[in-house]
Amino acid sequence: MTAMPIREPAQLAELTAPQLRLRLDEALRIYVTAMHYPPGTARHRSPMWLEHMLRTGWLCVAAFDADALVGVGYGYRGAPGQWWHDEVHRGLMLIDRRSAQRELADYFELTELHVHPDAQGRGIGKALLTELLSRVDAPRALLSTPEGPTRAWRLYRRLGFTDLLRHYHFTGDSREFAVLGRTLPL
Ligand SMILES: CC(C)(COP(=O)(O)OP(=O)(O)OC[C@H]1O[C@@H](n2cnc3c(N)ncnc32)[C@H](O)[C@@H]1OP(=O)(O)O)[C@@H](O)C(=O)NCCC(=O)NCCS
Repeated sequence: MTAMPIREPAQLAELTAPQLRLRLDEALRIYVTAMHYPPGTARHRSPMWLEHMLRTGWLCVAAFDADALVGVGYGYRGAPGQWWHDEVHRGLMLIDRRSAQRELADYFELTELHVHPDAQGRGIGKALLTELLSRVDAPRALLSTPEGPTRAWRLYRRLGFTDLLRHYHFTGDSREFAVLGRTLPL
């Protein structure tokens, strides 16, 4: 009989901005690998992740397997003037002005959530998201994710996220996205 390797559960930890800065290359490698983006994407995204760290309410939780980073999730308080906020506002206004005001009045934007493909399917994504949202001091969490039966999609549905916008096109991206939200606490 072949013995199955025993895997310890991943350890979760909140990262401060300086701590994520120190591991930014590692975190971006997870992002690029998990999203199947070309490696050069990391260089373009790096300034954006650094700028996000300065935003109000920024929070990050990371997952470690031994000392290696295997997952990362972060977000911040959404606000007018931010690209994502204004894009979602545009979409919601097409449906109902009042719902746009209500949904975007006070929310935490889940900006990134990624688990290295080698570590997926062990509950790390769910644990990261649950841990991150448990630390959020806002009445709602919003996110966008590409349409389709993806692992991310199933995770968000399992955690009770419902539709705000479907088949939505963000400016400059030909893919269709869903914008999902739920009230907090989980
Ligand atoms: C979305 C993502 C973060 C989820 O991370 P994950 O660690 O794979 O998530 P989980 O392990 O919590 O759940 C994944 C699956 O494993 C299953 N699972 C969880 N724990 C398990 C365990 N101990 N044993 C067996 N299966 C398990 C879950 O039921 C789930 O099944 P499903 O995907 O078939 O519905 C990850 O898949 C990812 O990085 N995807 C690419 C990037 C991406 O799309 N990010 C979101 C952008 S919006």
